[in-house]
Amino acid sequence: MNNITTPAIKVIKADTSKLKDVDFNNLAFGANFTDHMFECDFKDGEWQTPTIKPYGNLVMSPAAKVLHYGQAVFEGMKAYKDDNGDVHLFRPQQNIERINKSSKRMAIPEFPEEIMMEALKQLVALDKDWVQPGRGNSLYIRPFVISTQVGVSASPSNAYKFMIIMAPVNAYYTGDVRVVIAEEYSRSADGGVGAAKAAGNYGAQFYPTNLAKEQGFDQVIWTDSNEHKYLEEAGTMNVFFRINDTLITAPTSDRILDGVTRKSVLKLAERAGINTEVRKLTVTELVDAAKAGELKEIFGSGTAAVISPVSAFSYKDVVYDIDKQDDSYATKFKNDLMDIQYNVSEDPFSWRVKI
Ligand code: COI
Repeated sequence: MNNITTPAIKVIKADTSKLKDVDFNNLAFGANFTDHMFECDFKDGEWQTPTIKPYGNLVMSPAAKVLHYGQAVFEGMKAYKDDNGDVHLFRPQQNIERINKSSKRMAIPEFPEEIMMEALKQLVALDKDWVQPGRGNSLYIRPFVISTQVGVSASPSNAYKFMIIMAPVNAYYTGDVRVVIAEEYSRSADGGVGAAKAAGNYGAQFYPTNLAKEQGFDQVIWTDSNEHKYLEEAGTMNVFFRINDTLITAPTSDRILDGVTRKSVLKLAERAGINTEVRKLTVTELVDAAKAGELKEIFGSGTAAVISPVSAFSYKDVVYDIDKQDDSYATKFKNDLMDIQYNVSEDPFSWRVKI
C-alpha cells in the first residue's frame, strides 16, 4: 500500500483558447504553445504549490542566475493521439528520471517524480485538443528547470522554477539528414555534463553546427574530445550505424545522452533478432566500411527527430553518400516505434501511458 500523497495541483484555466489561430498544416517545430503550462517554484528549501495556469511570459530579474551561469536542464517528450481520440505519453517515467539525473549533475534540487507524472497527465488532458490526430503529428512536451535566485555570485541558486510547456509539432527534420564528423570542436568531455540534458550542451553546439550548415550539412556527429577518434552522438539525436547487417551504437557514458528513443530502438532490434553491438565505433572503421560498400545505413534517434536517416557524411572534406536500402532498418524502427506510440500495435514493453 502506497501511503505517499501527491499534493493537489492548483489549476487556473485560460479564459480563451488560442487553438483556432494555429495553422496545423504549417507548424514550425516548437513555435506555437498550448493554452496552459505547469509551474512550480523552489524556495526556502522546498518545492511550493504545483500549479497549472494559462501559458504566459515570465517576469524575472536580469540578475537571475540562469541568465548568467546557465544553471538549467530540460527534457523532450511527446504525446500522441490514436484513431479513437485517446492520447498517450511514451515512456514518461524515463524522462522524469532523466531530468532529475540532469538536475543532480547541475546542482539543481530534484523534482518529486509523482508530482511530475501527475502534472504531465493533467496538463496534457487539459490541452488534449492540441494533440492532432494523424501519424507524424504529436504534442512536444518540454519540462525544464531554471535557477531564479537574484544575484551574480557564481554559486548554486537557492531558488528554481520547474515548468512544463507544450507545442503541437510534426516532423523535426523534413528530409534526410546530412552530417559532418567532428574533427575540431567537441560537444562534451570526460567528467563533464554531456550525459545531462543541460541547456548549455545545446547552445555550445550552435557555432560548429552553423559552420557545418554553411557547407550544406544539417548536423555534426560528435566524436570523443580526446582524440576525435570515436563516434558519439549528434546534436539532437543518438546515432546508429548499420555495417552489413549489424547495428552499432556507442555505449552511453558521461559524454553521451542516454536517449529514450535510443534505448527503445535497441529493444526493438533485439525483438527483431537484429545483430546489435553497443560499442565504440571509430571514424576509421566507418570510413573503411563506407569505402568497402559495407556501410548500409546511418540514422539518428531522438524524441524530436524520431528516426532520421542520414543520407551522407563528410569527413576530412570527403563526402560519403549512403544509398537507401530496400530493407532499411531506419524505416522499420520508425514504423515499429510509431505503431506503438499511436496505439496501432500491441505495446509489448508497456511503453504507452494513456492519459
Ligand atoms: C529532443 O529530442 O527532445 C531534443 O532534446 C532535441 C531538441 C533539442 C530539439
